Amino acid sequence: MLSPTIQVLDVIKRFGNKTVLDRVRLDVIEGETLVILGGSGSGKSTLLRMMIGNLKPDEGDIEVYGKSLGKMSVEELTAYRTSIGVLFQSGALFNSMSVADNVALPLREHTDLPDETIQIMVKIKLELVGLREHAEKMPAELSGGMKKRAGLARAIALDPKILFYDEPSAGLDPVTSHEIDNLIKDLNDKLGVTSVVVTHEMDSAFRIASRMVLLDGGKFVVSGTPLEMRESTDPLVRQFVHGLTEGPLTDRRRGGGYERDLLGENI
Ligand SMILES: Nc1ncnc2c1ncn2[C@@H]1O[C@H](COP(=O)(O)OP(=O)(O)OP(=O)(O)O)[C@@H](O)[C@H]1O
Ligand SMILES: [Mg+2]
Repeated sequence: MLSPTIQVLDVIKRFGNKTVLDRVRLDVIEGETLVILGGSGSGKSTLLRMMIGNLKPDEGDIEVYGKSLGKMSVEELTAYRTSIGVLFQSGALFNSMSVADNVALPLREHTDLPDETIQIMVKIKLELVGLREHAEKMPAELSGGMKKRAGLARAIALDPKILFYDEPSAGLDPVTSHEIDNLIKDLNDKLGVTSVVVTHEMDSAFRIASRMVLLDGGKFVVSGTPLEMRESTDPLVRQFVHGLTEGPLTDRRRGGGYERDLLGENI
């Protein structure tokens, strides 16, 4: 029996009077690549931020390896954060540092390793993402795809057990996006990590996922293997997965009370 690495337990998150996540439950299983799908504004990034301990749920809890994030001390939370890797949408590199120094940063901050060892580790990580020859470049000299690779090299600097990605292929051309997907799969296989990927790029989702979940209306409406999702007859899943212009998602947007809004009535 595979054990859950992360358990999202009845999490509620509100911003103002808007309930973004409404009693969300989710298990992330060890070694899987879980893709979280959902429309823009459905709360994917919010959920990811809670799973990495950057944002607290209003209600409910998130457990990692059986330990509640909400009950962790500051030291425990810091230890958790250094045990995971996160690739943010922009790559989030420090512009004043070379690629190599960006990757070395977590090693310098969180280990006592001598600099020669750090240099070697940085080379290994850059080789893994195909950027070894660009180690001395500055972020401004990199293309979007190279920035993602550099961000990924930094995310794996401390050999994380869990990797989180927020929209890893957003803004990339289809070939570069495919390459990043291959890299995500490769890292999953080579490093044996558990991966959680937030995306709305369906091609990418189908390439990397071992399991997919669809977030809608603050809840997970479905979970399945890529094949199950592709063959699903659920109208919402069908519209999302196949990018159809007709279906529950667009019906909902159109039925937004436009006339009442124009007349100044509350909607
Ligand atoms: N810090 C915040 N303060 C107020 N509202 C927020 C905050 N963060 C997110 N929201 C709101 O919560 C909802 C979900 O946002 P979130 O960024 O999680 O969506 P998403 O699914 O990641 O969307 P996208 O696909 O566009 O990235 C949105 O309506 C957003 O405006
Ligand atoms: Mg987002």
